[in-house]
Amino acid sequence: MRNPLIVANWKMNGSLEAIDQWVKEFTTFNPLLTEMVVCPPFVYLNDFRTRLLTNALDISVGAQNCSTEEMGAFTGEVSAGMLSDTGCQWVILGHSERRMLYGETNEIVARKAVQAVNAGLKPIVCVGETLEQREAGKTTEVVLSQLNSILDAIGAQELSKGALAYEPVWAIGTGKTATPDQAQAVHEALRVGVESRDSLAASALRILYGGSVKPSNAAKLFACADIDGGLIGGASLKASDFYAIAQASVVPDVIS
Ligand code: PGA
Repeated sequence: MRNPLIVANWKMNGSLEAIDQWVKEFTTFNPLLTEMVVCPPFVYLNDFRTRLLTNALDISVGAQNCSTEEMGAFTGEVSAGMLSDTGCQWVILGHSERRMLYGETNEIVARKAVQAVNAGLKPIVCVGETLEQREAGKTTEVVLSQLNSILDAIGAQELSKGALAYEPVWAIGTGKTATPDQAQAVHEALRVGVESRDSLAASALRILYGGSVKPSNAAKLFACADIDGGLIGGASLKASDFYAIAQASVVPDVIS
């Protein structure tokens, strides 16, 4: 049985004031068994982590990206080692916004994954198809090629220490969620893809669903056999919604 993992991707949102409010609100909720990770923008990682420690909140901190390089003359970049140095344990890699808006190819994402693993960070690798690819019947082919390039770079075992996130591009920030059946089918194909390399790693790997997850649809998604949690964008900015989603992962059968 895999312990659920719920990850917040704040994207380029937040401020010190918003962080203070989010943490303050979160301290009013009862502790959960679910593992939670919050990924604020780079500049707030330390402020956020300090507030978590001060308030004894059991949430880990992750970044939303890291460099393909270890160090040196790469203006504006942040290395995986630096993230690790500031107490970050996780890093989101290959988010579709980075693939589409910043030209990140499978090869670039794979190089970042190598850096992350070398620095001791747990990668959360995102894969997902566009609407055109889905309509052309290419979903499995696309996500497996994204997965395989990561497996070639870091191996199934290292990936299983982190997580894989299936995020259909057409469902991100659009309010359109994949149905539990649509998501489960892709999650299963991904797990089988990992299984062909390493069956132990495949059964340990947490595969998260992302794309318009909300408190109202989370429980049904998390009740699927191969959905082990979520990568939450918009809804994670509100502490009560993020908490409600995490809560839905604990007892999906009861809530749904
Ligand atoms: P969303 O974003 O929950 O706002 O759709 C998910 C993501 O991009 O990780």
